[in-house]
Amino acid sequence: MAIDIKNDHKDSIEIIKKYPKDKRYTLAILQDIQREYDFIPREAMILISNYLDLPISNVYSIATFYKALSLKPKGKYTIKVCNGTACHIRGSESIKEEVGNILNIGPGETTEDGLFSIEVVNCIGACALAPVMLINEKYYGSLTKEKVKAIIDELREGCTNE
Ligand code: FES
Repeated sequence: MAIDIKNDHKDSIEIIKKYPKDKRYTLAILQDIQREYDFIPREAMILISNYLDLPISNVYSIATFYKALSLKPKGKYTIKVCNGTACHIRGSESIKEEVGNILNIGPGETTEDGLFSIEVVNCIGACALAPVMLINEKYYGSLTKEKVKAIIDELREGCTNE
């Protein structure tokens, strides 16, 4: 089915039209789109490209250059594994590996079922609990590989029971 970009992306159009037709606003528009959808839909990039009369490849390269922008929707649970100094000293590398092994994805990726995304971050302000990960708004500290598996299993189970 063909995507009706105009109808499916009314919000994108509203965001884009707040800005003057000037390519200097490309990043600002992309940031607003990211805030709205939590990622940058391809359709929004096409709309920006048309509006600013800018090749889609330019919009794409800006969208991929900035780490804060994501081209893929994030999972229901975003797992932020801390790799700051305190966590690193207390074994965050193996925690990061374990999360990746369990979910079979790497940092910046989302599982196929759309449940989990992984991000590796620096200090999330809970060093006393190192090694730590933050899943959505909740902190999990003093992690071990076993704890990581139990936490992910529990979240998965919660989703199958919904
Ligand atoms: S270094 Fe991980 S919470 Fe501070």
